[in-house]
Amino acid sequence: MSTASKASNDASDPSEETEIVPGGPRHVAIIMDGNGRWATQRGRPRLFGHHAGARRVREVVEACPCFGVEYLTIFAFSTENWKRTQVEVAGLMSLFRRYITKETRTLRDFGARVRFIGDRVKLDKKLIRLMNELEEATAHNDKVNLTIALNYGGRDEVARATQRLAQDVADGKLDPASVDEETLPRYLDTYVLPDPDLVIRTSGEARISNFLLWQSAYAEYEFIDTLWPDFTRDEFGRLCAAYGDRDRRFGAVKT
Ligand code: FPP
Repeated sequence: MSTASKASNDASDPSEETEIVPGGPRHVAIIMDGNGRWATQRGRPRLFGHHAGARRVREVVEACPCFGVEYLTIFAFSTENWKRTQVEVAGLMSLFRRYITKETRTLRDFGARVRFIGDRVKLDKKLIRLMNELEEATAHNDKVNLTIALNYGGRDEVARATQRLAQDVADGKLDPASVDEETLPRYLDTYVLPDPDLVIRTSGEARISNFLLWQSAYAEYEFIDTLWPDFTRDEFGRLCAAYGDRDRRFGAVKT
């Protein structure tokens, strides 16, 4: 049996946590795209799709330990998403507040450690408070590391990191000559996370949209047609299994 079909079969029992996909990804990052189209196909407003998308998150988080995924990072709102209509932005912010309020206990009891990345400055105070509380409530968990990118942009993250790095140089804490590619990641929002091994984007679009630009330099990519609200645990398992068949060389040549 191929690893892909094995993972797919094992995925039928959500309570089973024994199937670690051999050579599977340790860190999966997901661009959850297609909520708007999913809603439009049903003659519903775009926010209907975002609510359906939010409901998919729990299943994927809970599947992570089953597939050996220790880190899951999901793209919830980009620094560019503010350009959407005021109705959609306000609806998404309200959804995030409701999601955190509703899911805090479930995520904590499941054993997920939740972190947020992105620039919090532009977010409303109540949302920031809920984000902080969720991080604190799950700080001692280690079953799966869920990182939610909210008001996140890869370029914005690098710019903010560079500001902090430059400040350390100005304060005499950092020698500019010592800055190398190990230095900058220590200033990124993701400094405690390993780089993603696999980046999945749903909805048939093949672009990375400013997501984890630095961190994904050597990630493997899966662009799949499924719209995010239709994404299932089985499909997640198949993608993790397929990753195990990839030949990652990180620029080197196999001897
Ligand atoms: C992209 O689909 C999706 C977003 C900008 C929002 C993602 C949010 C969720 C999945 C729900 C909330 C998540 C959490 C963690 C609570 P799109 O609107 O661009 O879809 P389209 O390309 O079909 O228009």
